[in-house]
Amino acid sequence: TVADLKGLKQGRLRLAVITTAKYFVPRLLGPFCQLYPGIDIALQVTNHSGIVDRLKENLDDLYIMSQLPEHLDIGFQPFLENPLVVLAPAHHPLAGEKNISLQQLSEEPFILREPGSGTRTAVQKLFDEQGIKLKVKLELGSNEAIKQAIAGGLGLSVLSRHTIIPESANPELTVLDVEYFPIERNWYMVYPAGKQMSVVARTYYEYLLNAAKQIVEQTNGSV
Ligand code: PGA
Repeated sequence: TVADLKGLKQGRLRLAVITTAKYFVPRLLGPFCQLYPGIDIALQVTNHSGIVDRLKENLDDLYIMSQLPEHLDIGFQPFLENPLVVLAPAHHPLAGEKNISLQQLSEEPFILREPGSGTRTAVQKLFDEQGIKLKVKLELGSNEAIKQAIAGGLGLSVLSRHTIIPESANPELTVLDVEYFPIERNWYMVYPAGKQMSVVARTYYEYLLNAAKQIVEQTNGSV
């Protein structure tokens, strides 16, 4: 039977994912493991530079990241949008304003992720390109801690929209309408080009692609 065949897929899947995917990926692992009870999983969650280090050392079967590393021989597949948005406390004076300028944003205290974070790099790139300097009040190594700091009134920040899904769970935060935002990005599945993917990794790869396709169909692409 089909169930027997699925039972034959056995072994360990080693995954490494960037912090923005740490909500999405574990949630999907439940149904995956029910489907393939013979597969065990080891999941690492780290920032962009941590993922690149793991990729260089060939520690995992599959990597999920937003910014493809240069100068590494990899295969990759985009599977879902990962937009970066500007977050403020719900009752911030700029909440509800249209087309806020970067200049206006630069007058607010800002919270930035730690060096090595892909989110931080994307934010810095935009502000550097536009020649605008941010007033960095606080550096924090965790999306969750940043959300708390915003809610506590310490400043504004830029995070993946996935960190506030479902929005109903984050009533203290709001997304500001700022020029150049959202910064459009994708999540990619990445693997070493020279390495044959294991049956287990291939199975997960197909599963995630399919799950993402269903999400896009349900939400019409708007995450
Ligand atoms: P990071 O991941 O900010 O934790 O590195 C986010 C990303 O690159 O999308």
